Amino acid sequence: MTLSEILDSFKTKFNPSKFIDSLEKRASFYDESENDSEGNSLGENLKNNPYLNSGNNSAESFKGVKIYKNKDEPLIKLTDVWKIYQMGEVEFAALKGINLEIYEGEFLIILGPSGSGKSTMMNLLGCLDLPSKGTVCLNSKDISELNESELARIRGQMIGFIFQSFNLIPTLSTYENVLLPLEFQEEDRQIARQKASYLLDVVGLSEKKGNLPSQLSGGQRQRVAIARSLAVNPPIILADEPTGNLDTKTGDYILDFLDELHTREGKTIIIVTHDVELLRYATRIVYIRDGEIEKIETCTKNEPEGLK
Ligand SMILES: Nc1ncnc2c1ncn2[C@@H]1O[C@H](COP(=O)(O)OP(=O)(O)OP(=O)(O)O)[C@@H](O)[C@H]1O
Ligand SMILES: [Mg+2]
Repeated sequence: MTLSEILDSFKTKFNPSKFIDSLEKRASFYDESENDSEGNSLGENLKNNPYLNSGNNSAESFKGVKIYKNKDEPLIKLTDVWKIYQMGEVEFAALKGINLEIYEGEFLIILGPSGSGKSTMMNLLGCLDLPSKGTVCLNSKDISELNESELARIRGQMIGFIFQSFNLIPTLSTYENVLLPLEFQEEDRQIARQKASYLLDVVGLSEKKGNLPSQLSGGQRQRVAIARSLAVNPPIILADEPTGNLDTKTGDYILDFLDELHTREGKTIIIVTHDVELLRYATRIVYIRDGEIEKIETCTKNEPEGLK
């Protein structure tokens, strides 16, 4: 297969609207016919969308976790947040007094050069780490007041992570990596399997189900990471350099996919990157340098349909 054939097949399969339409309408995804409107043959799993009857409507509730409909309350709020790394005797302040509120339905890009504190910030925004000073609130709850299991549960239901280095589990197959967050959420086994298969079909990787991450290309690993981030259908997607390891064309597909999730489903997308090419997708841009916010810019981009 030539590179252009691979990209074309990716383009055909990786059609975000197929996935999103179905979630949005909560109606039958595909009829019994084998082909979609463009005459493309569909993967087995795409005929049956396991997200339709699971009660996982992105804009409503996730197994008891109330998601704000109130646009005036931030989903995530950082107040005077500092992150100080200790290396022996030496202290290094990677974040210095960050104040930031992120609202439902934003497509927020945090832009900064290498070493400016983006991944550190992502770990705090995603409640994977606690600040050295200051507070991080998720859904108006100070995360330092939650115990480990409460935090893991809320984080697992609310945030889908796409990490800079993918963080796929090297000893698990593609399929098992996508299945993992569903197992953490104690999803019914059979439904979890259907969801994992479905998402791998959505990102065009059904044929690589059994491959280990080391047996995938960089772009394919990125797609597994995306499928995994969507597994529990969280309202927030947090991505660290989502296109960092991809060629331009594949990177554009990934971003268009995230953009669709934002505009069609009203998902809150937060991306940390150094890549100015991504700025065209943003509703707001936070410029960060040496652990501090330099400036914040609001962009003119249509508000997600679901939030109007
Ligand atoms: N565990 C750690 N211990 C000490 N210093 C750290 C640690 N993690 C990060 N740093 C330092 O904190 C600063 C911010 O790191 P961070 O990983 O957040 O940068 P970044 O903006 O994500 O960079 P990149 O674009 O290269 O991924 C860097 O100077 C880094 O060396
Ligand atoms: Mg980083």
